[in-house]
Amino acid sequence: MNPSKILIVEDEEAMRFFLSEALSKEGHEICAVENSEEALGRFSEEDFDLVLLDYNLPTRNGLELFKALKHIHPDLVAILITGHGSQVIALDAMNQGLFDYFCKPVELDELRVVVRRGLERAHLLKEVQSLRNGLKDRFSLDRMLGNSRGMQEVHARIEMISGSDVSVLISGESGTGKELAAQAIHYTSPRNRGPLIKVNCAAVPQDLLEAEFFGYEKGAFTGAVKQKIGKFELASGGTLFLDEIGDMPKSTQMKILRVLQEKELERVGGETTIPIDIRLVAATNKNLEKAVAEGEFREDLFYRINVVSLTLPPLRERSGDIPVLANHFLEVYNKPFGKEISGLADDALEILQNYSWPGNVRELENVIQRAMVLSFNQVLDQKDLLRVYPALAEPVTGPPNGVSFEDQVQAVVWSTEKRLILEALEIENWKRQETADRLGVSRKTLHNKMKKYGLGQSARGQPTPWGSSGQ
Ligand SMILES: Nc1ncnc2c1ncn2[C@@H]1O[C@H](COP(=O)(O)OP(=O)(O)OP(=O)(O)O)[C@@H](O)[C@H]1O
Ligand SMILES: [Mg+2]
Repeated sequence: MNPSKILIVEDEEAMRFFLSEALSKEGHEICAVENSEEALGRFSEEDFDLVLLDYNLPTRNGLELFKALKHIHPDLVAILITGHGSQVIALDAMNQGLFDYFCKPVELDELRVVVRRGLERAHLLKEVQSLRNGLKDRFSLDRMLGNSRGMQEVHARIEMISGSDVSVLISGESGTGKELAAQAIHYTSPRNRGPLIKVNCAAVPQDLLEAEFFGYEKGAFTGAVKQKIGKFELASGGTLFLDEIGDMPKSTQMKILRVLQEKELERVGGETTIPIDIRLVAATNKNLEKAVAEGEFREDLFYRINVVSLTLPPLRERSGDIPVLANHFLEVYNKPFGKEISGLADDALEILQNYSWPGNVRELENVIQRAMVLSFNQVLDQKDLLRVYPALAEPVTGPPNGVSFEDQVQAVVWSTEKRLILEALEIENWKRQETADRLGVSRKTLHNKMKKYGLGQSARGQPTPWGSSGQ
C-alpha cells in the first residue's frame, strides 16, 4: 500500500517536530506547516489523506481553517488538537464534521490510534468515491452506442437536459434502450450522488402498487407486519424511474399525480406527511398520447411527466449502428463465455443489417450471445448466425423512406406473414405438409408463399434451427 500523506498544521515548533517524527516513524509521508495560509496553499495543490490541525493558530483558529479546507475538499478527514480543558470547542468541532480530536499534552499511543482510525475513514471515503465514479462511468452516455442520426439526437437531448431536473418521458419499442437512457439521464444529472430507484409498473400487481410507491405503516392492513418505505421515499434526493408507466391503473395515476404536485406523501395507514424530493423519469413502449385520447391515461399526469420527451428509434431505422453494437456485444461476452472472438465477417454483418429486428437491440444482443456460445470460429460468419437464428435468412421487404402508407402496411403484413411461416417451418422441422397443416393453408399456398419470400431454397441445406438441434 502507498504511504498515507498527512498534513500537520501546528505553530509551535517543538510540537510540530514531535508530531512529524512520531507519524513518519509509522511510515506516513508528512508535510508540516506552521500557519493557515501555508496549509491552504499546500492543500489546494496536493492530495492529503488526513489533516492534523492545532486549534490555536495565529491568524485563524483551527476550526475556521477546517471549514476553509473543507470547501476545497468536502470529503476531508481532519483531526483537531486542542489545549488542555477545551472539550467544548472540540465537541463543537465534531458537530461541524471534524473526524476526531485530542487534547494536549499529546499521548503517543493515543495519537497513533486516532490517526490510524482517521486514515481508515479516509480510505473508505476514497473507495466510495471511486465506486461512485465507476457507476457514473458504467451508466454514462458513452454506454449508449450508435453514431446514427437518431442516436446522436438522443445523445444531444440527454446532454441538453443534463443540468436540469425536468421530468422526462422516454418512449420506444421494446429493447431499444429505454432503461439505458434512464440511467444515462440520472448519472449525467446533478442528482447522480443520490439513488436511482426503479419501479416496473407492469410487474407489480395493481393492488400492491400503492404500497410499493408510498410504503405503509405497520398494521396498515392485514399482512403489514412491519413498516415499509415506499419507492418515492427511497428515491428522495435522486431519480425515480417509472418503467412501463402506460400500464399503471387510473386510480394509481391520480395518486401519483397528487404526490408529484404536492411534493409530499403519507405512507399507507400513516399520519405524518413526508416531504419528497425526486426527479421523475418514465418510460413506455405504448403510445401514451393515444392512451390519453382514448381516456386510458390521465391527461394532467401525461403533461406533468412529458415535460421533455425522448424517443428511442427502432434498430431497423438505424442499421448503420448494427456493426458497432454487434462488436460491442462480442467484447462484452468474450470473457464470460470463455471465447476470443475477434469480429464479424462481412456476410454476417450484411444479414444483420438487412433484418427487421422487432426486438431491437435486445434481440441483437441475444443473437450474438447464441452465436458466440455455439461457434468455434475466431470470426463469426453468416453460417454461425443462421445456425442459431434462421429468421435472419430473409431480408425484410421493408419500405424505403417516403413510400406510401399502403405500401408500408403491406410491408408490415408481409414481414409478419414471412415470420409466421418461418416459425411454423422451424417447429415442423421444415416438413411442408405438417407446416401447411399447422398454418391451416394448403400445401400449394404454402409453396407459393415460401417462393414469394425466398424461403424455398434456404430450406434445403438450411442449418438446423436453434432449439431443435438436440444438444
Ligand atoms: N445504444 C445501445 N448501446 C449499447 N447497448 C444497448 C443500447 N441500447 C440498448 N442496449 C442494450 O440492449 C438491452 C436492452 O436495453 P434496455 O433494457 O435499455 O431496453 P428497453 O427499451 O428498456 O427494453 P424493454 O422495453 O424491453 O424494457 C440491454 O442489454 C442494453 O444494455
Ligand atoms: Mg426496459
